[in-house]
Parts: sequence; C-alpha cells; structure tokens
Amino acid sequence: MRTPIAVFASGTGSNFQALVEHMENRETSYRIVLLVCDRPDAPVLQKAEQFGIKALALRPKDYPTKEAYEEEILGQLKTLGVKWIILAGYMRLIGRTLLQSYPQRIVNLHPSLLPAFPGKDAIAQAFRYGVKVTGVTVHLVDEGLDSGPILAQKAVSIQEGESLGRITEKIHHTEHLLYPMVVDRLVREGIIVEGRKVTWLGSASQADMGNMPEFQ
Ligand code: GAR
Repeated sequence: MRTPIAVFASGTGSNFQALVEHMENRETSYRIVLLVCDRPDAPVLQKAEQFGIKALALRPKDYPTKEAYEEEILGQLKTLGVKWIILAGYMRLIGRTLLQSYPQRIVNLHPSLLPAFPGKDAIAQAFRYGVKVTGVTVHLVDEGLDSGPILAQKAVSIQEGESLGRITEKIHHTEHLLYPMVVDRLVREGIIVEGRKVTWLGSASQADMGNMPEFQ
C-alpha cells in the first residue's frame, strides 16, 4: 500500500512533475493524492489536471487568518488520509496549524546548500555572491525560514563564466533527481531526528543520496 502524500506548490511545478513521474514509473512508497496551491493562476495547476491529480487552489487573502486558511487545507488532508506534506516551490511559511498536525512530517526543497542563501531567489543570491559551489537541500520544515533539520544535500559546482541561466538549469536538474528519491526513501524507511541531527533508517543514507553524479 502506497502512503498518501500531498504536494504544496505555488509556481511552475517542475518538481511536482518530477515527483509525479517518479511515482508513475516506479514502485514508489508514496502516492500523491492532492496538490495544494496558494495561487489559482499558477501553472502547476494545469500539470495536476494533466496528470489527473486532485488539486485544491486557495487564495490565502480570502481567509481572515492564517489559521483559518490552514484549517481549510487540514480538513482536506485529513479526509484524504495524507501522512506527509511535501513542499515543492510553495512560497509561504507554514503556520502552527499544519506544523502541529504534521510534526516532522513536512518536507521542503531549497535551491542552495543551506544554511547559505535561505529565502527567495537563492540561486541568484549564490550566483551574485560568487560561490564556487552551491547546491540543493531537502529539509524538514520548522517555524523558521528554510531552517529545519537537513535530510539530504547535493552540491552543484559553478564553473568560471557560467551564466545564471545555466546554473539555474543545473540546480533544477539536480532537484528533479534528488527530491523524488529522498521523498520515496523517507516515506519508505523513515528517520530519527535528534535536535538538528537526522539519522536515516533502513538502507538509506545521505551518502547514498549525495552519491549520484553531479550534473555538468
Ligand atoms: C525550486 O527551485 C525550489 O527549490 C524553490 O522553488 C522552485 C520551484 O520550482 N523553492 C524555494 O526557493 C523554497 N525556499 P518548480 O515550481 O518548477 O518546482
């Protein structure tokens, strides 16, 4: 039996698509039963329709408080038996309502090697800073901004003269490989969290996941 998960996204949805394709092509541990989107005009909604995945599009402005907005989402998650929340370009801080209902069960993808370059435009932040190595981080969500315990990271090197566009392409390619693999293993095998330290159970390890070849 595959574990029901929900993906939250706000934009293009290329990582949502990677998660769906992974699920369709393999015996994954997870099954995406809901896409939650906070922007009713976001292209990710068309992707959900194309793949036949139920979508919930909400406008946070339509709710008096963040709690009310998240209660609405929570109702749907409970109805569908969702066990994990997977953020894929969801550009909104998760509030208390969802954090308390899904403790250590909300996962985020971020396009830098955290704790460097949290927040928006992380790829451009790293590019402008002039780092020689950047990358991708998958982490648990806490009340902070891109600050929860780290599950997996993959480095992406920046060559001299490379454009921001090229680096963005390399980062996205890396995300599309890393995220579905990490989510699949997380749901299948689980983790132990002690403070900021995450230990993978089963055969999964950060070393395995970080070992995939770097995209050039
Ligand atoms: C991804 O690069 C993801 O890492 C980033 O948003 C992009 C969404 O792309 N997330 C963050 O910056 C979170 N702080 P997508 O809509 O094509 O999947």
